[in-house]
Amino acid sequence: MTGDATERGLLISPIKHGTVIDHITAGEALNVLKIIGITGTTTESISVATNVKSGKMAKKDIVKIENRELFKDEVNRISLIAPNASINIIRDYKVFAKKGVETPEFLVGIVRCPNPGCISNANEPIQSRFEVQEKGLHCLYCDWVITRDITSYII
Ligand SMILES: Nc1ncnc2c1ncn2[C@@H]1O[C@H](COP(=O)(O)OP(=O)(O)OP(=O)(O)O)[C@@H](O)[C@H]1O
Ligand SMILES: [Mg+2]
Ligand SMILES: [Zn+2]
Repeated sequence: MTGDATERGLLISPIKHGTVIDHITAGEALNVLKIIGITGTTTESISVATNVKSGKMAKKDIVKIENRELFKDEVNRISLIAPNASINIIRDYKVFAKKGVETPEFLVGIVRCPNPGCISNANEPIQSRFEVQEKGLHCLYCDWVITRDITSYII
């Protein structure tokens, strides 16, 4: 394990198996947890370091999740919040695989449409559907576009 003293374990101890989400945009770690569905009461063992010094970026956040390997769609969702994040799968204390995050084409059931009149907000069993576009998240039901504060719309 390389990196500065913060990463080497003064702040977060090594994990045997799980996922390290590294190079998260400084300050966004809690939003990253939110978008991969970790909110409120949790049974998982998670370490979070925010605004730590990093060589590559001035500051960054890191999240370490024990005993869980993230799926591709969970990984890609992270790009909406931290496009430079790297995902390290840890097996037997070593980095088994490292990958970047790719922007997903669609988000299904991840964010709530801000339009109260949208069918996805009606009392129907309809999941929200957004297309990820350059200008923002485009609701496929009502054409609303979320251009900012995406994290406040995460379900
Ligand atoms: N067993 C482990 N437990 C917890 N964190 C780990 C473990 N192994 C590596 N890490 C962390 O995972 C990240 C990636 O580890 P790696 O050894 O690839 O570092 P690196 O060479 O700095 O990688 P990069 O080039 O992506 O910055 C670092 O933040 C490191 O501290
Ligand atoms: Mg590094
Ligand atoms: Zn809508």
